[in-house]
Amino acid sequence: MALLPFVVANIRDIHTRAVAPGHFVTSADGTRIFAEARGNPSKPVIVFIHGFGIGAMAFNEIFDDPLWLLQVRYDTRGHGRSDKPNNAAAWVSQRLAEDFDAVVQKLQFEQTIWTHIADILSFHPSDYIAGIIYDAAAPDMTSLFNIGSPAALPLIPSLTQTTNVTQFQATYIDFINLCHPGPRALPLLAIFGADDKIIMKQAALDAMAGWQRLTVVTLPNAEHFTWISRPVLFRRQFCSGLLKMLNLR
Ligand SMILES: *[C@@H]1O[C@H](CO)[C@@H](O)[C@H](O)[C@H]1NC(C)=O
Repeated sequence: MALLPFVVANIRDIHTRAVAPGHFVTSADGTRIFAEARGNPSKPVIVFIHGFGIGAMAFNEIFDDPLWLLQVRYDTRGHGRSDKPNNAAAWVSQRLAEDFDAVVQKLQFEQTIWTHIADILSFHPSDYIAGIIYDAAAPDMTSLFNIGSPAALPLIPSLTQTTNVTQFQATYIDFINLCHPGPRALPLLAIFGADDKIIMKQAALDAMAGWQRLTVVTLPNAEHFTWISRPVLFRRQFCSGLLKMLNLR
């Protein structure tokens, strides 16, 4: 089984529009794979495949960014919203290639590139995909043990054992912190009325100190009930913040 952060697809002649976010496709062995597509279907498609122990949501920052081309991502089996089969037959290399096939066929791309490249190319000719982009990737499980850092390698036994959940969860937090310190926070839009006689804005902000994705909006000439004081401005700020959170900007 390959262990690859992601690969990019450069797809020609796309015949379909992007599938709405959130779509299950069924792989050959019946495992359901959660895939998403977003962006401009006239552009080349980039397929992001995450690495060990995370999920497609790891690419939220890219999916939030309208400057990226049409993007596809999926939760690999055993991860995120995809099924988590626990029989050994579900974990042979060919199954990973079939997951890729299922997503590609569903999205009707003519030519794609994915991660799990070693698996995919084991069962398809090389022109099945247009190219590969590795981002900090281990090309296969064997090389992983030469590539992994001294900080990361000792975590592997705890992450691959199947008997101690406490141990797994504690180690997984260490793993995520090595991937990126302070994993992505929820977006928070904090709206204040400049003339609020109930809440002191700065004290409220102090209570939120350290929030990573904080947006502060202060409505001028607004009392505590901001939506009554400034109905139009409140709605505009509220909806614009909401659309950003929902990636609909
Ligand atoms: C499970 O792991 C935790 C944390 O490493 C450890 O404290 C505990 O003793 C382990 N439990 C068993 C049954 O091995």
